Amino acid sequence: MDMDKIRAETPGAENVIHLNNCGAGLMPQPVLDAVIGHLRRETEIGGYEAEEEAADALANTYNAIAAMLNCGTDEVAVVENATVAWDMAFYGFPLSAGDVVLTAVSEYASNYIAFLQRVERDGIEVRVVPNDNHGQTDPAALARMIDDRVKLIAITHAPTNGGLINPAAAIGQVARKAGVPYLLDACQSAGQVPLDVQAIGCDMLSATGRKYLRGPRGTGFLYVRSNMLDRLNPPFLDLHSASWSAPDRYEMAPNARRFENWENYVAGKIGLGVAVDYALDIGLDAIAQRVQDLANDLRLRMAALPGVAVHDLGVEKSGIISFTLLDRDPEGVATALAAAGINTSTSSNRATLIDMEQRGIPIMNRLGLHYYNTEAELDQFMDTLVRIAN
Ligand SMILES: Cc1ncc(COP(=O)(O)O)c(C=O)c1O
Repeated sequence: MDMDKIRAETPGAENVIHLNNCGAGLMPQPVLDAVIGHLRRETEIGGYEAEEEAADALANTYNAIAAMLNCGTDEVAVVENATVAWDMAFYGFPLSAGDVVLTAVSEYASNYIAFLQRVERDGIEVRVVPNDNHGQTDPAALARMIDDRVKLIAITHAPTNGGLINPAAAIGQVARKAGVPYLLDACQSAGQVPLDVQAIGCDMLSATGRKYLRGPRGTGFLYVRSNMLDRLNPPFLDLHSASWSAPDRYEMAPNARRFENWENYVAGKIGLGVAVDYALDIGLDAIAQRVQDLANDLRLRMAALPGVAVHDLGVEKSGIISFTLLDRDPEGVATALAAAGINTSTSSNRATLIDMEQRGIPIMNRLGLHYYNTEAELDQFMDTLVRIAN
């Protein structure tokens, strides 16, 4: 990995030590150039005309995402964020009274709120698959929970509140064997680990552009396996996702575009494609290796400090590090780090209620390391943490 080039292409790295990639990553220069370049063309020649001119760049966004996921371009919808992507799949998935959805302990709040809405509205049931001894979703327990009523497995790959990476492919094997469709929330894993939907065995996958992919805010995407397309009924349709073919008839788009809508953030969509290409050029294996090396090393150093508790679960861990300082309010710790020029965040039980309640932790500090962070930045973080802790 050419760190000099990567750092030179990350303008934000001059200003801050950015350890909040799980919130939003710093955009690299080529992504910024693509977004600004398109906005400039919109002002120069008009929005629709600029879009037409950018047809190749827009097509490239689908190609890049399909290359990253190892799927077809027709299986990709580009939308405004991961939640909309996930919602289009989940609310489009037919479920009726008595049907069961199996999910993870550390499922994200927005997903769980959607489950609860359908519990209320459609009479479905949600069952939480217990964790194994390492704190990750247990594929063996999942297999034991499959019965005729289970219609969907919906699991978060890398949760928002810590370093856990759930065993997505082992879960996929259980789903395949049982013939139960599998929706994977890859919001935090996209851009930091390889995501091959064939190897994982998921049927639907949602992700965001702005986090580990380092794309623009307001972008996300959904993968839907081609044989699932007709099993989902998109909750919203318009004249982009469908065509009005006769006064009493419409036809849905023949591909995953049926989950998109007409008006969209064209500059962002182009920028998202550039961001995915940027990650693919560096290589997701290399990215995963560096992120995990940096985070594993930092976890050990942090855990060795008196008064610091590191809370990450799982066997294979992501670039997210969750921790608390003894007798310190996490918000205050994040504010003190920010005052020292270090961007971090906190994660509360509002985002992952079941997991946080099980562990009795209301709120934690959270770091999201990326490959462009340097060892020197992490040394500076450690020095600052020691100072704050004392
Ligand atoms: C695991 C997980 N899923 C979904 C989301 C929602 O993503 P978005 O804000 O792009 O809708 C987040 C955001 O933090 C997340 O961490």
